[in-house]
Amino acid sequence: MQYHDEGSEEQVTEVEGAALAKVQEIPDGGVLECQAVLASGPAELLLLRAGEMVRCFHNVCPHAGRSLNWAPGKFLIESGLLICAAHGASFSIPEGRCVLGPCRGQSLSEVAIEVHGGEVRVAAQGIA
Ligand code: FES
Repeated sequence: MQYHDEGSEEQVTEVEGAALAKVQEIPDGGVLECQAVLASGPAELLLLRAGEMVRCFHNVCPHAGRSLNWAPGKFLIESGLLICAAHGASFSIPEGRCVLGPCRGQSLSEVAIEVHGGEVRVAAQGIA
């Protein structure tokens, strides 16, 4: 099992159109935690990357609503899966679908993003 320790400095995006992160800042086969203010309010987000594929989700496990990390910016990654630190639900990267564990078949709640020039931004409709 790997203890993923990148992205320990959270990024906060409050300005419409500002980048959440650069694609290269997200570990390939891993996750980067960041924060943004969405139309629904402040949110902790996860950027999951596999190669050039990046998807963004709320950092809320569909099992019991806990954050997936075990400490700020620290995640369990094993065999291409992001494992919830609370009870072990395992999510595919970058799809965010639970393939093993107590909420198997459910998915993380996705946030629409756009990638331009190597930068990841929340899609315009997702920003307050
Ligand atoms: S809250 Fe994630 S597995 Fe229970």
